[in-house]
Amino acid sequence: MNEAEKQKYIVAAGEHFRELFAEQLERAERLKKRERVDFSKLDKIKIAIADGDGIGPVIMAAARRVLSALLSDLIADGKIELCDVGGLTIENRLKLGVSVPQDALDAIKSCHVLLKGPTATPKGTSMESANVTLRRELDLFANVRPVRIPSENIDWTFFRENTEGEYVLGSRGFDVPDTLAFDFKVTTDEGTRRIAKAAFDYAVANGKKSVSIVTKANIMKKTDAMFSEICHEVAKDYPTLELEDWYIDIMTANLVNKNIRSKFEVFVLPNLYGDIITDEAAEIGGGVGTAGSANIGDRYAMFEAIHGTAPRMVELGLAEYANPTSILRACELMLSHIGLSDRARILSSAIEKCAVVERKLTVTGDKDGAKCADFADYVIESLY
Ligand code: IPM
Ligand code: MG
Repeated sequence: MNEAEKQKYIVAAGEHFRELFAEQLERAERLKKRERVDFSKLDKIKIAIADGDGIGPVIMAAARRVLSALLSDLIADGKIELCDVGGLTIENRLKLGVSVPQDALDAIKSCHVLLKGPTATPKGTSMESANVTLRRELDLFANVRPVRIPSENIDWTFFRENTEGEYVLGSRGFDVPDTLAFDFKVTTDEGTRRIAKAAFDYAVANGKKSVSIVTKANIMKKTDAMFSEICHEVAKDYPTLELEDWYIDIMTANLVNKNIRSKFEVFVLPNLYGDIITDEAAEIGGGVGTAGSANIGDRYAMFEAIHGTAPRMVELGLAEYANPTSILRACELMLSHIGLSDRARILSSAIEKCAVVERKLTVTGDKDGAKCADFADYVIESLY
């Protein structure tokens, strides 16, 4: 590369960064105004349901049937409405060239919460993941992922920051072909404050004593150091909580260390570390087919399985054998979020009975196991 070419890249990179920086500064300011929905004040709660791709339609059909049975009285009384949202399929998204079609987004925004099947992210295109778009568009800042193993006394709840970090500009890096590539990581003051508050409020409300802040602040000196600092500042309003700082590398080791892992209770962490460690935690808790995930914002919330579309299962003709437990756990989180904790408990007990205690049918993800639809029937029979 000659000097003139280098200068051209330097100017272009400067322009690019200036634009991103101005946008992020705006966003950081906007976040400071918070307005929350109070579900107890709503006459009707509308639940959007979007199937997604791969095994999505199979597990979502199970979720839809379980919810219809569990909420039949509330649906009949008009207190709950299940609203199908079409168009969030990879075929439609590729056809329109957008990660979330406007019609689908409008339909989702006309509801209060969204139950979403896994959505495929096309490789080799610049299209953003639908998950990331929805989290940003609906400002779903808290990704809450519980993992429980009663027999080991493990009760972990992860509060993953869900809109910033490496994700917020993940599709908008800068590169010089054959030479270098840059991505950006952004942490904001309010973005950190609100996830810290969410984690601490949960800890206090659920009688938890300790919260682990997990970063890599020894390396990410600006973003992660600020994340940890703000968590400590917010914690001054929560004097009963004990805070511990951990680095993400040793924390991934701690979770497989049976001598100490049950002492951890609540975790608060930036986006990418949260993404990685919650797959590890879900695997420890019985597999990614068994864990639900809540994406919570002040106004909207989205609930989903922790796993993806399982393209290999679909290719092998095994979609019907997909495990619906993860999306049913997501339903449970959704019911608690909209103020139906009693129904959430009923669903939780039914899942526990079917998947852990009684196990009349077992889903293995293969033909030696039960079909998703049969397992859903088993859960429905076990509700009452
Ligand atoms: C998750 C997923 C998503 C993420 C993908 C599908 C974009 O792995 O929800 O953990 O990286 O956040
Ligand atoms: Mg993930």
